Amino acid sequence: MRRALTAVLGAVTLLLAMLVAGALPASAAPTTLKEAAAAKGIVFGTAAAQSHMGESAYVNTLNREFNQLTPENEMKWETTEPSRNSFSYGAADQLVSHARSQGMAVRGHTLVWHSQLPDWVEGISSRTELLDVMNNHISNVAGHFQGDIEYWDVVNEAFQDGSGARRDTVFQRVIGDDYIEQAFRAARQADPGAELCYNDYNIDGRNAKSDAVYAMVQDFKARGVPIDCVGLQAHLIVGSLPGDIQANIQRFADLGVNVYITELDIRMQTPPDSSKLAQQAADYRAVTSACLAVPRCKGITVWGVTDKYSWVPDVFEGEGAALLFDDAYAKKPAYDATLEALGGTPGDGDGDGDGDGDGDNDGTVTCTYTRTAQWNNGFNGQVTITAGSGAVSSWTAVLTMNSGQDLQAIWNGSPTENGDVITVKPVGWNSSLAPGASASFGFTVSAPGGNVADPALTCSTP
Ligand code: G3I
Repeated sequence: MRRALTAVLGAVTLLLAMLVAGALPASAAPTTLKEAAAAKGIVFGTAAAQSHMGESAYVNTLNREFNQLTPENEMKWETTEPSRNSFSYGAADQLVSHARSQGMAVRGHTLVWHSQLPDWVEGISSRTELLDVMNNHISNVAGHFQGDIEYWDVVNEAFQDGSGARRDTVFQRVIGDDYIEQAFRAARQADPGAELCYNDYNIDGRNAKSDAVYAMVQDFKARGVPIDCVGLQAHLIVGSLPGDIQANIQRFADLGVNVYITELDIRMQTPPDSSKLAQQAADYRAVTSACLAVPRCKGITVWGVTDKYSWVPDVFEGEGAALLFDDAYAKKPAYDATLEALGGTPGDGDGDGDGDGDGDNDGTVTCTYTRTAQWNNGFNGQVTITAGSGAVSSWTAVLTMNSGQDLQAIWNGSPTENGDVITVKPVGWNSSLAPGASASFGFTVSAPGGNVADPALTCSTP
C-alpha cells in the first residue's frame, strides 16, 4: 500500500516538475470565435442562408468559426406559411439539420413580424380570426422545430423608433396591445424547451424605444407572461455606437431575462480603407466586451458570414463591409479584435501568426486602384498589390463592379467571376512578393449604360 502511494506521489511530483519546466504544453489560447466564446460561456453565431450552402468557402467559414446559426430568411412567415394553413419547411429544415450536424445551437427567426408577411395575413380584419391565425402559425412552426431550437425570436420589431410607441402593424391594429403576450403564450405551449425572446433594432443603447421594450418586459415578468430573453439586433454604424450598450444590457438582465446580441453588423461607407477598418475593429471589440461584462448576456450573433452576401448594400446605398469576413472570406481587423475581446489569439495555430492556416508565414498586403484610361462606355483600371514588412507567397484581390458594368479583359491576373464580384489571383510569376515589393494587374471594364464609377477593391493573402 505504502509502495503504491509512494509511486503515485512520485508520478505527481514528476508531472508538476514537467509543468513548471514547460515540458508539457499549456493549453493553447483559442484561435476561432466559437472556441473563444465557448471558453467564456457564451455562443458566437451567425445568420446563414440556405442559398449559399453550396459554396465551400461559405460553409467552411461557417463551420470553423460559429457555434450558433440563425436562418436569415427561411423561417419567416412568407416562407413557412405562404398560404393559409399550408406549411413548408424545406430550406429551414436543411439549415437546422446542418447546424445540428455541426453541434451548433439554432435561433428561430421569427414567428411574428410585420415584414415578409404574406398578403393573406395582411387582409384579416377580425381580432378572433387573426388571433387564431397567429396562434395556429406559432403552434405549427414552433411545433415543427420543437427540440431543435434553443431560442425563438417570438415577436420581432414591434416598436417604433423615436417615440417607442407600438408599430402600426396588422397584429397591433386588429388584435391590439395583447398580441405580443398572446404570441409568447402560444410559443411556450408549442415548444416549452426553447428560450423565448423579444427581438428589435435600435434598442442597443438606452432610448425611448428601448425604454418601451424595457417596460414591456418588466410588465411581462410581473404578470407571469412567459418571456426569457431580449434580442438586441445591433445593426450599427462604424464610429457611432451608443455609449451605453453595457448599461442597457445590464438593465434588461436585472429584470431576470437573458440578453443576446442577435444581428450584429457594423456598416461603413464603402469602399473600406484602413482607418475605417480600424474603427470597425474597435467597435466590434466594444460590443463584444459589453456583452462579456454582463453574465446574463449569453451570446453574440453576427448578421452574415461574409460581406459578400450582407443585406446592408441592398438597403443602404453606398454602405457595407459590415461583417467580420470580407468578400473573399479573409479575416478583417474586426475579426481579430472580436477574437481578442473573447480571450482568443488571432492566428490559426500553425505558428506563423498570419491567420490563414497554411503555415507559410505570409505577411499582409495593401492594394491601390488607378484608372488608367476612360471613354464613354468603359474604362481601364490597374490594381497594385504591395507586400508589407513580411514576404507573401500569394495574394487575392476582390473587385466589386457597379451595376451595368462588365469585365471585358484582364491581364497579369486570373479572374473568377461571381455576379458583380470578381476575385483575382496571380497568374503565377507575379504570385510571391518580397517584403515591400509590388505586383500589378490591369483590366478593361465595359459600361454600356455609361456608369463608369470605380469598382470597390479589397485584397488579402494568400
Ligand atoms: O429570394 C428572392 C429572390 O428569389 C429574388 O430574386 C430576389 C430579388 O430581390 O429577392 C429574394 O428575396 C430577398 C430575400 O432577402 C432573400 O435574399 C428579398 O428581396 C429581400 O428583401 C430579403 O431581405 C432580407 C430582409 O431581412 C427582409 O426584410 C434580408 O436577406 C435579411 O438579412 C433581413 O434580415 C432582417 C431581419 O430578419 C430582422 N432584422 C433586420 C434584418 C436586416 O434587414
